[in-house]
Amino acid sequence: MTTDQTAITSRLRCIGCGATPDSVSQDFRCTNCGDLFEFVFPGWKYDPAALKDLWLNRRTSRKPLDQSGVWRFRELLPGIPEEHAITLREGNTPLYHLRRCARSTGMENLFAKHQGMNPTASFKDTGMTFAASSAHQGGYRWVACASTGNTSASMAAYAARGDMHSLVLIPEGKISWGKLSQSLDYGALTCQLRTDFDGCVRILNELVRQKPVYLLNSVNPYRIEGQKTAAIELLEQLNWEAPDHIIVPGGNLGNSSAIGKALIEMHELKLISRLPKLSIIQAHGANPFYRSVREFDGKKLEPMTAETMASAIRIGNPASWKKALKVLRATGGEVEQVSEVEIAEAKAEIGADGIGCEPASAVTLAGLKKLRASGFVKPGETVILILTGHVLKDPDFTIKFHRGDLFAGTPAEREAVQSKSLQRAPIVLDADLGAVISALDAADRNS
Ligand code: F0G
Repeated sequence: MTTDQTAITSRLRCIGCGATPDSVSQDFRCTNCGDLFEFVFPGWKYDPAALKDLWLNRRTSRKPLDQSGVWRFRELLPGIPEEHAITLREGNTPLYHLRRCARSTGMENLFAKHQGMNPTASFKDTGMTFAASSAHQGGYRWVACASTGNTSASMAAYAARGDMHSLVLIPEGKISWGKLSQSLDYGALTCQLRTDFDGCVRILNELVRQKPVYLLNSVNPYRIEGQKTAAIELLEQLNWEAPDHIIVPGGNLGNSSAIGKALIEMHELKLISRLPKLSIIQAHGANPFYRSVREFDGKKLEPMTAETMASAIRIGNPASWKKALKVLRATGGEVEQVSEVEIAEAKAEIGADGIGCEPASAVTLAGLKKLRASGFVKPGETVILILTGHVLKDPDFTIKFHRGDLFAGTPAEREAVQSKSLQRAPIVLDADLGAVISALDAADRNS
């Protein structure tokens, strides 16, 4: 079996017209039809048992590439020579049993794969290690992305580690401070544009046509390849027993495409014997994919002006919607939408399980409740929620929720009254032992 990563044969193929050019343009769009590219691996053949052994053995290796939860699975990735690999030991994220959430959703086997436990605290690192390495291999001085905050944080870190400069385009006032602070600290040139995420994408696409800047958004197929490994690692953690359902948040739809691609490839390679259903959840105010599937049977996607407090997924024109549609159909998954209050409540419930996540990740639990109610998910089935970002990414949201003012003055104010039981506001007391004991006793009576 090959362990030399440069020996792996891969090709880029257009998902629209099937073209397989030797090189692609800087915006990663097909010059024939304008669609996106994906990596294919002609003649791919492995002994599944030997692959599983090889990956397991690498867990004890001291080599940086083996310690990465992405590069450890390099047999399923396109070849990038080792000297270009930029790694922060990403991946290797935990799979947690969500005991309380399982009870409240009437499930027994509910787990979270927490991609927020990556080096820059979001799932983006798994794709970024690989795509930044491809920029390094291409000899680029500058890399760039448009972002709702997590891609930019991750890109800035990996660019710095690879001695490259990074340009970040983010919508002004629409990303969390935690994410903005990361991109500043990791040394990116950070431009806050007076537009939304989709406006930032438009400018960046023009920019890469004029300047020798390497695009690191998820239209870059190397990003998708790196992000595939979250699903491979998950299946390894489950001892290669496929779960019934995997549920992911949907924004620009790169992550769902990546996880779906990995599932399909693992199934083809006989690493797993059946396909889990991959379901995609969007916020009600940023639901172009939900509407595409439900209203137009996936025949078209109407861009929209997106609005949600889950700022990571405030995206109205998702680039990878056709790839996501393909994996949704191939795995038999569902698409759902959830309200702002449902997101906030689900986030507090995941927090109460001692895990926590950022708001965009919580759409998975909110979506699961809907999929349970519709009967799509059955009580005895095994469900994995992909939590995409760490709870500390957006502490503003968390504090406002627990203080009870997250929805003040918004149309959701009345609906939010029902969330009271989940709120745990801090109590301000005099520095007095008696006062603290009273607070403790009162809390004990109510618990
Ligand atoms: N969850 C979080 C925490 C995210 O940051 C994102 C996307 C998503 C879910 C959705 O993933 O776009 O692959 O469907 N964040 C991007 C960014 C857009 O710029 O950080 P997707």
